[in-house]
Amino acid sequence: NKVVLAYSGGLDTSVIVPWLKENYGCEVVCFTADVGQGLKELEGLEQKAKASGASQLVVKDLTEEFVKDYIFPCLRAGAIYERKYLLGTSMARPVIAKAMVDVAAEVGADAVAHGCTGKGNDQVRFELTFFSLNPELKVVAPWREWEIQGREDAIEYAKKHNVPVPVTKKSIYSRDRNLWHLSHEGDILEDPANEPKKDMYMISVDPEDAPDEPEYIEIGIESGIPVSLNGKTLSPATLLSELNKIGGKHGIGRIDMVENRLVGMKSRGVYETPGGTVLFKACQELESLTLDRETIQVKDSLALKYAEMVYAGRWFDPLRESMDAFMEKITEKTTGSVRLKLYKGSVTVTARQSPFSLYRQDISSFEGSEIYNQADAAGFIRLYGLPMRVRAMLDKGI
Ligand code: ARG
Ligand code: SIN
Repeated sequence: NKVVLAYSGGLDTSVIVPWLKENYGCEVVCFTADVGQGLKELEGLEQKAKASGASQLVVKDLTEEFVKDYIFPCLRAGAIYERKYLLGTSMARPVIAKAMVDVAAEVGADAVAHGCTGKGNDQVRFELTFFSLNPELKVVAPWREWEIQGREDAIEYAKKHNVPVPVTKKSIYSRDRNLWHLSHEGDILEDPANEPKKDMYMISVDPEDAPDEPEYIEIGIESGIPVSLNGKTLSPATLLSELNKIGGKHGIGRIDMVENRLVGMKSRGVYETPGGTVLFKACQELESLTLDRETIQVKDSLALKYAEMVYAGRWFDPLRESMDAFMEKITEKTTGSVRLKLYKGSVTVTARQSPFSLYRQDISSFEGSEIYNQADAAGFIRLYGLPMRVRAMLDKGI
């Protein structure tokens, strides 16, 4: 029997390889997904995996798929968790887990394994994806089974099994990076009363150190999906990485929050989402032209549920998929462009345009109008306010 392991090359996953062989007597195929975590992490990975005892390493570039089929649908939906979190890690888990299911089929494996702890959200996201795409796969989660407690234990285990200890510098923070965001958890962040240290951040500058000149950019959007930057059409992943550079330079998209994990505990996290923050703002703004009041209300209320589902790892749930069909339909005509000004950590919308705009200057203008007759308002207000008048009459005994 064979197992496909979600592998990063760090200490934890390096130790999992010999542990799986020892405890399950299986061949271990390592799998690494490129979701835009930075190519450095992929260098020398094959030798590393083999040195740990893996029979092979499979690497797949999932960046375009990740942005096009996972990130952009969430963006179109306006999905945001607990008012702040743009779901960077949550969206990456299903795309990685889906690829693992495919790799398992390709190499003839009957099991999959991951290095998530038993205290987090990620284990749920991986495993719900495995369940929905191949219910027959066995799942192994070493962190929930083994005795290894911390870094020292892990190093000792590696030495005992003649596995080279990876030379990667262990950061004091637990980080997760992809094309959408970089998350930081742990160490001093575990006390919500502590301010993050300036040197913790990796993909955005401190707003105080950002350029003194604002930068204007224009995002082109087609049917709720961003397609261009400053008039230039770009692939989803290219568009996002360009915006990460620009947004990061201006200190955009830092979020510091205490969130409720699915497993019930609260946890403190700090996120850097420079490009995503710009795109989120742009997409929401264009809807102010293309959607009416009630549509926005219904869409926003569904977005809340949509985000909750994504956070909870229920990507491949028919409920999320059906809500996605709604989002696709409702944003069909959300096409146009938004101009934004980036300046020292802030993103300000300065202009929006759409060929499907419901805004009509000939109606809204303070100048005289043909279509809108002010006299109509009197009757409208009398009927609209009728319940309020009736109640007041009752109170006053009229
Ligand atoms: N709390 C965030 C989430 O659940 C980030 C998790 C980061 N994951 C990690 N393995 N470091 O989406
Ligand atoms: C983990 O526990 O593996 C990381 C944090 C999380 O999944 O929420």
